[in-house]
Amino acid sequence: MACASFAKLNAASFYSIGGHKSFTQRPGSSTSLATRTVSLPIRAGSFTDELIQTAKTIASPGRGILAIDESNATCGKRLSSIGLDNTEPNRQAYRQLLLTTPGLGEYISGAILFEETLYQSTTDGKKFVDVLRDQKIVPGIKVDKGLVPLPGSNNESWCQGLDGLASRSAEYYKHGARFAKWRTVVSIPCGPSALAVKEAAWGLARYASISQDNGLVPIVEPEILLDGDHPIERTLEVAEKVWAEVFYYLAENNVIFEGILLKPSMVTPGAEHKQKASPDTIAKYTITMLKRRVPPAVPGIMFLSGGQSEVEATLNLNAMNQSPNPWHVSFSYARALQNTVLKTWQGRLENVEAAQKALLVRAKANSLAQLGKYSAEDESEEAKRGMFVKGYTY
Ligand code: 13P
Repeated sequence: MACASFAKLNAASFYSIGGHKSFTQRPGSSTSLATRTVSLPIRAGSFTDELIQTAKTIASPGRGILAIDESNATCGKRLSSIGLDNTEPNRQAYRQLLLTTPGLGEYISGAILFEETLYQSTTDGKKFVDVLRDQKIVPGIKVDKGLVPLPGSNNESWCQGLDGLASRSAEYYKHGARFAKWRTVVSIPCGPSALAVKEAAWGLARYASISQDNGLVPIVEPEILLDGDHPIERTLEVAEKVWAEVFYYLAENNVIFEGILLKPSMVTPGAEHKQKASPDTIAKYTITMLKRRVPPAVPGIMFLSGGQSEVEATLNLNAMNQSPNPWHVSFSYARALQNTVLKTWQGRLENVEAAQKALLVRAKANSLAQLGKYSAEDESEEAKRGMFVKGYTY
């Protein structure tokens, strides 16, 4: 009985991928299939077409993601760096500055928001989601509930947020969100233990499946922290292990690969390693790792910046786009898009325009890097300043 209904469900729940619906079987390759067109099966849910379209829109040429999904506590750190109190009006003013930047949509295809911002409006009363839609930027939402210690591990953490995620996701969709983000972390100096990697991968896969079920494209982000004095080879080894496990569980949870986006860390030496790596070396290790682990069905790889300086993050992205890749290779930076903006703004109304120009400079630089056409010649000293903080928590 159970088997019979499963077979029925399978037959009914697969259909062709939009845009590449079918191909014709080569004559002679099989008598019964010789003249028939063959559909490529993909698991269908009510949102399948929309998920694939949303992911493609976000992964469009010359564009990437602006990540401004800092929790209230983390946004407080950004604000205190320029002497501002962590109040709702200050958070709103900062997000308003970022999201109302004229021309942003040319370089930015998606913006990840924190829950507070999704429901907030500008001081003139326009919903932030509508500000984004007017610029053809897809609104996204951070759905994880943050990291807590993982008992039984080597001082590692796990990411909370699966309880109630389906109903929260449905609510976020109603309010305009079309993609989601779940960030968990893996620490190389702490091991990583097999338990921490498995927990990270399983949590991401459950979240991805629940997001797709509710119309949100999941960004899959197992951040491998920069912390440590290990060489780049060790990062490569850990990244391969983590992504192998993530894809194992994504497949086990029937996640539609055409309707996800990835947010990996670049493969670099640990921040405290004695030797720095060049953008070409980082690009080689990172792209090699991804080619070994990520199927080409995935539409986009949107890197995090992880504490690199603005210029480093852009140079590394540019190096990865010097030859064609199987996926759109782009950015989803928070720190590497916001640093000079904050420094320029200083919380003053009279600096808003200059700060918005600073954001456009960074967005355009990363857009060029997505196309492999960036040069760092005219970059400011501030943009070259590293932002790594040991043991940084989001
Ligand atoms: P950065 O590492 O680029 O600061 O951002 C990480 C992140 O997950 C923000 O959404």
